[in-house]
Amino acid sequence: MKRLADFDWKDKVALVRADLNVPVRDGRITDTARIEAIIPTLRELLAGGAGVVLLSHFGRPPEGSDDVKWSLAPVAKNLSELIGKEVAFCKSLDQAQRPASGQLLMIENTRLNPGEKSGDETLAKRYASLGDVFVLEAFGSAHRKDASLVATAKVAPARCAGLLVEKEVAMLGRARQADRRPQTVIVGGAKISDKLGALTALAADADRVLVGGGIANTLLVAQGVQIGKSLREPDMHEAAEKLLASCADKFMLPSDVKVAAGFDSAQIRSCPVDQVAGQEMILDIGDKTAASFAAAIAEAGTVIWAGAMGVFEKPQFAAGTEAVARALAESSAYTVAGGGETLAALRQFGCEDRIDYVTTGGSAFLEFMEGKQLPAIEALQ
Ligand code: 3PG
Repeated sequence: MKRLADFDWKDKVALVRADLNVPVRDGRITDTARIEAIIPTLRELLAGGAGVVLLSHFGRPPEGSDDVKWSLAPVAKNLSELIGKEVAFCKSLDQAQRPASGQLLMIENTRLNPGEKSGDETLAKRYASLGDVFVLEAFGSAHRKDASLVATAKVAPARCAGLLVEKEVAMLGRARQADRRPQTVIVGGAKISDKLGALTALAADADRVLVGGGIANTLLVAQGVQIGKSLREPDMHEAAEKLLASCADKFMLPSDVKVAAGFDSAQIRSCPVDQVAGQEMILDIGDKTAASFAAAIAEAGTVIWAGAMGVFEKPQFAAGTEAVARALAESSAYTVAGGGETLAALRQFGCEDRIDYVTTGGSAFLEFMEGKQLPAIEALQ
């Protein structure tokens, strides 16, 4: 894998594929960690005399959508403020032109381009024509095969890893080898479909698996628990049943939960997990569950955490995620945590500096930890 230092950047254009898929609520960026994480690479490229074209996806829009909610324009503005330099923004790939030395150009959300998700080579050639060297800086997306990640790396005249990708691979590689027992994996977030493969593989090797968030809901339904109107993935029930059957003894699912009629409802109650009413939604793990998760973390030798336990951006549903964040911060285990919302939670609770390694990857991080080859990194080699 080549590195930034292997190139003379003077008068070259670096085509940097970043992961600027930052968390947004009510149109506001709630955490800028992924933007901050690429700044050292941008500075090194600009200082070396390169012009920089930035590519990233943002969310999961339908291809061709013109809905402003999928636009990367607010991210370009945010980057410009953080780096203290103008970031030109190009609304469409067709209008993009190679920037001059020292200039930064961000192009609109790659997932709006037809062919991006399917990894189309013609689209990749259009991206690649904008730069001399493809720089992979999107560790959080390295498990995807989008055209801007894999095909572009292959058709570009040259390719290398950015500083963030280099650091992530080295640090997580070290964490993978450390493997101090017992190993506790904590998984949360909305969808089990995103994490099922990694969760299955990690569960086989882990000593304990703690699950919260929407993922836990789908597992609870697989156990026959009624969860009212809570978020779940009906298509995944069979897979969830199989996963539980393969290693049920390792799993700790919520035994109590916080429920309400909706995110903004003032009426909140705590109840055992089997007493959720038909019109209620589970929006956080309960206090007993949070205490038992914290106790399991305290006993661990290695902790791997990806995904929130509830809707932690709302103070009334933050306690479960906060308890997990604090337990990791206080643990003497080797702790690794990652993913957009996990990063935001660690920052919100002031725990970020007390985790051994915080990665920008979510599902990419889990797949790396399970020992899988990540397609975007493979394409660099
Ligand atoms: C992430 O946030 O995990 C990455 O940006 C990948 O996003 P995706 O799951 O929509 O591909």
